[in-house]
Amino acid sequence: MSLSNPKEMYRNAIEGHYALGAFNVFSLESIQAVLDAAENQKSPVILQVSMGARKYVKDFHLFVHTMKNYADHCAVPVFIQHDHCTTEEACFEAIDAGVQSVMFDGSHLAYDDNLKKTSEVVAYAHKRGVWVEAELGRIPGFEDLVFAESDEYTDPEMAHGFIAATGCDALAVSVGTSHGGVEAEGYLPMQFDLLRQIVSLTPDYPFVLHGGASLPPELIAECNKVGGKVEYLRNCSEKDVSMAVDIGIHKVNMDVDNFLVFTTAIRKFFLEKPSIYDPRKYLVGARAAFQAEVEHKFQDVLHSAGRR
Ligand code: G3H
Ligand code: ZN
Repeated sequence: MSLSNPKEMYRNAIEGHYALGAFNVFSLESIQAVLDAAENQKSPVILQVSMGARKYVKDFHLFVHTMKNYADHCAVPVFIQHDHCTTEEACFEAIDAGVQSVMFDGSHLAYDDNLKKTSEVVAYAHKRGVWVEAELGRIPGFEDLVFAESDEYTDPEMAHGFIAATGCDALAVSVGTSHGGVEAEGYLPMQFDLLRQIVSLTPDYPFVLHGGASLPPELIAECNKVGGKVEYLRNCSEKDVSMAVDIGIHKVNMDVDNFLVFTTAIRKFFLEKPSIYDPRKYLVGARAAFQAEVEHKFQDVLHSAGRR
């Protein structure tokens, strides 16, 4: 299987009533964890790179090249997406580096500015056969280098008009999730009726859910049991994310749960085997935990397992 493409993968997801999982990677271990999980579960998958990862990996072009090489040798369909570019220039750089899809996140802008800049990115991207994911509405919380204080749900009519006016290929919507979780008593309520209205006005379209990680309290407790001091923030439940997929979400970004289990595995190793200092010895377990969490998402949240 070689690198696939967004058009085909989204079409299959829409026809198959499932969502593509999109996971941010930043190292060989995270690339391998996501792709091994996808192969194990026979699931298509999106490998993502974020603005923060650009800084972390130092040579961004080389890292995109590495992602594409691994994707080329993967037995299931994969495409490479750049997540949350907040400027057009960052999008152009991502496209020139070879990604197949780029997210222009104009959610912090006034509607007209978001529309204008998204349209500019679409023009540049489509000339080069690259897909564009845009964002309308605001998702609260902290994601990578992007922060939003409050949420601003996506308006169904505005979404329909924005898609028509910009020609964006996918649209991230704000329907209740948060980036990285927020302070709350229990799981956040997914706005199902709002999502149904958005989908009914623009049917069979790649709508995207950001903040798809549910931060189950038991995952946080596991990490804190082995020395973590992770705050019990809340997001939407896996059951609600799965129902959002049934309604018409066809891409879900989910990172925090994977990062939590990766960190817990390393903390546990350090606690139990303090004399060992070979990084391979603790990264192998962290990679396996990351992979297991992604496999769980394919099976139980995205309905994409077995769909390759
Ligand atoms: O763009 C990245 C995602 O929205 C990840 O958010 O880690 O809260 O799932 P999450
Ligand atoms: Zn996001």
